Amino acid sequence: MSTAARPSTDASPDPAAPVLLFDSGVGGLSILAELRAVLPQAPVIYAADTAGLPYGEKTEAQIAARVAGLLGRMTERLRPRLVCIACNTASTIALGMVREVLAVPVVGTVPAIKPAAMASRSGHIGLLGTEATIRQAYVDRLEQEFARDRHLHRHAAPELAAAAEAKLRGESVEDEIFRRVAAGLRARPGGEAIDTVVLACTHFSLLQGELSRAFGAGVAFVDGAGGIARRIAHLTQGQRFERGGADRAIFTRLPESAGLRASLHHYGLDHLSAF
Ligand code: DGL
Repeated sequence: MSTAARPSTDASPDPAAPVLLFDSGVGGLSILAELRAVLPQAPVIYAADTAGLPYGEKTEAQIAARVAGLLGRMTERLRPRLVCIACNTASTIALGMVREVLAVPVVGTVPAIKPAAMASRSGHIGLLGTEATIRQAYVDRLEQEFARDRHLHRHAAPELAAAAEAKLRGESVEDEIFRRVAAGLRARPGGEAIDTVVLACTHFSLLQGELSRAFGAGVAFVDGAGGIARRIAHLTQGQRFERGGADRAIFTRLPESAGLRASLHHYGLDHLSAF
């Protein structure tokens, strides 16, 4: 689910100006995939703060300082037309602050509790996120607003962020990890009735097939990726796009893995550099 962003102050940015997608690692690629579907012509820079990964284990102050500082510098240097914080952890903590400091529209990624509450028949919704995300007041507010008459079972699954990173490096990931996460959520009081699971971390959307097998039939997964892509399309409506070739990725710590480079290529990201 995306949140409101201020409309662009510049109706006609440079056609080559990119959309900047920012995450701590590979998670934001789940949003890039949806963005390619709705705006195939948009130039994109994919930014990963791999030197700060995982965000889920950091404090609120650490995340807010890192994200606001990095996005300030990236925006100054790369001149994006729009910034998308493709990370639930960073968005639920720092979205307001980032909007205060950047002069371009900022789209956040926050847990898709509203569509999950509408879709659930049993009224029991699981929410998988990082340690940091599941304790946020932002999530309390979404629950109050959209799922007050539902049971929201929050579960931290930090091992899934690491599993997504490993998967995109081309490494094999043990099924046991997914079974453990499913069992953890099911073990909560009322957890056996869960029929809808919110993937409240962009990394987890890269593992939907594995999670689906672990939870078994009868459980639907919801994330915000499609809505965020449509929100970006809406905010850039009428703008010209000029995509001169493959897009680039910038990492705060460059990966050594050839497997990861192959995954980035799969998403149309052929130029990789350090930021
Ligand atoms: N992709 C990030 C999210 O959506 C979190 C991963 C991490 O712990 O850095 O929350």
